[in-house]
Amino acid sequence: MNNQRFSEELLSECPGLAKKVTENEKLKYRIEILKRSIEERNNDSGSTSLQANGNDVPAKQPKKDIKKDNSNVSYAKIVEYGNSFLAQFKDIFSKSIKETFEGIEEPAVIVETNNPKFGDYQFNSAMALSKKLSSLGHKVSPRDVALKLTEKLPKLQLIDKVEVAGAGFVNLFLNRDEIGNRIAEIYNNGVSLPKVEKRRVIVDFSSPNIAKEMHVGHLRSTIIGDSISRLFELMGFDVLRLNHIGDWGTQFGMLIAHLQDSFPNYLNETPPIGNLQAFYKESKKRFDEEPEFKARAYQCVVKLQSYDTDIVNAWKMICDVSREDFERIYRRLDIQINERGESFYQSRMVDLVKELDEQGILQEDEGRKILFAGLEVPLTIVKSDGGNTYDTSDLAAIKQRLFEEKADWLIYVVDAGQGLHFDIIFAAARNLHFYDPKEKRVEHVGFGLVLGEDKKKFKTRSGDTIRLTDLLDEGVKRAKAKMEAKRVEKSSDTYENMSEEEFQKAYEAVAYGCIKYADLSQNRRSDYVFSFDKMLDDRGNTAVYLLYAYARIRSIVRKAGVSRDELLSYLKNLQGSFPLEHSAEFKLAKHILKFSDCILMVLDSLLMHQVNCRNAA
Ligand code: ARG
Repeated sequence: MNNQRFSEELLSECPGLAKKVTENEKLKYRIEILKRSIEERNNDSGSTSLQANGNDVPAKQPKKDIKKDNSNVSYAKIVEYGNSFLAQFKDIFSKSIKETFEGIEEPAVIVETNNPKFGDYQFNSAMALSKKLSSLGHKVSPRDVALKLTEKLPKLQLIDKVEVAGAGFVNLFLNRDEIGNRIAEIYNNGVSLPKVEKRRVIVDFSSPNIAKEMHVGHLRSTIIGDSISRLFELMGFDVLRLNHIGDWGTQFGMLIAHLQDSFPNYLNETPPIGNLQAFYKESKKRFDEEPEFKARAYQCVVKLQSYDTDIVNAWKMICDVSREDFERIYRRLDIQINERGESFYQSRMVDLVKELDEQGILQEDEGRKILFAGLEVPLTIVKSDGGNTYDTSDLAAIKQRLFEEKADWLIYVVDAGQGLHFDIIFAAARNLHFYDPKEKRVEHVGFGLVLGEDKKKFKTRSGDTIRLTDLLDEGVKRAKAKMEAKRVEKSSDTYENMSEEEFQKAYEAVAYGCIKYADLSQNRRSDYVFSFDKMLDDRGNTAVYLLYAYARIRSIVRKAGVSRDELLSYLKNLQGSFPLEHSAEFKLAKHILKFSDCILMVLDSLLMHQVNCRNAA
């Protein structure tokens, strides 16, 4: 009898024990809350709408990785391989394994070789297959496995020679003429990508909170989310970019009550709130210290949720002030995004709670209604004061995105600290049959913290969180200073004909490019150290280096004195394929073509640093 069945039977036979188990779960849950609130207090990051919404259990990174039940599904269905050699080779070998050894499941491992003696690619799974076969009573040597598999491979123009070598490796030699043709094709028609079945995708990213300025933690989400959206758009997907801003919840009660006191004429005149963050702090202070104010703040929440006109207007005003700030940043970073904040889901939250209530799956827990999704920590669906939480809005949002938007993929680009929150939301959504993970890709794309050069959480000297505006300003200032120094030092033709306007455009592009590249070129899962000095360095893996390399290549092209038309007519009049005579030429051609495999890999992993083929495993 397995453990689970054993405990289920035991529980059904001993109701007292069942009660104890439930109590135990509740206790664990309580301890979790206490631990979190202590952590929050020590941390006082004050950044997420988790606290703002009054959710008692801000989700933190789970200790151990929860096994995702979609880890083996490949969601991108390839329609045409194009130049994705690796993907194509994996596919033909997998088919051959299936046909040759019926019922045996073994992934086809194929790698690039590093010695041209062994061809360009190498299939490595013959040993594993031989072992598997022998465990099932069939003795076949790895070499024979390899020989059998190669018999079933289709003839491809791309492959010149297939060779079984050593103890059972299969070496694949690419056809140079074909590689030459493909390079010529790129020169004629531009970079071509593999074709993948079109999907409707929602990317939830950036998502700052109203009344709090965007800070460096939102920077990563904005940069990574935008890049992932660009990748999907490049693949021809139907992409909806959503800004799930924190614009709803109990914090608005105190903000509105404070607005009424500070700017009584707010209905006729836009209140001049210059610093919304300070305004937030003031109202929070009053909320904590003045009981009368607190009571009025609660009344404002109730009125807001029942759409009282004056209160809704006050709410809109507060949102507008924040929005201006966000938009300024998006403009600077060239980010397109559609705002659809938590408030959008209000009526859907009401319906959802009703639905869950009717299904009888909500548990009463000291005045609140919670939902267990099979994990230790439950979702808080209704708070003891009747309000909803971050959990409720995310559960309503996932439902809306799947059923109303009919999205195939849902991608949430949110810091890794919220991993547990998303694990529970997704588990609940699966339990409620909102989606089947075999068909739909629902994924939390987490990322690590931004650290200062002292390897501690990135903060100002006085210990405050760094405002994004200040950070961008600083980047621009430094890029400008660096380029100004070069301008003086070189006084070369690079700068000679540059107007002030062009110069400004250039240093801003360098600054924003460097900030974005520094983030994207790291594995997003790790924390990363934010260092202006490193990101603006013209050596190493930086945007400046790439920009220089690009400028240098353009200059070589200019100096070569061959026009594009001349090259095109050369290609047209070629007898046979584009020549790749030198081994370095062949190597470079293969590297250029590898871009297609990189893109497919990134589409699967959503690890943007792999776009740089050197990082692709
Ligand atoms: N506003 C949240 C925060 O600042 C992020 C929201 C992310 N998206 C979501 N669907 N929960 O932490």
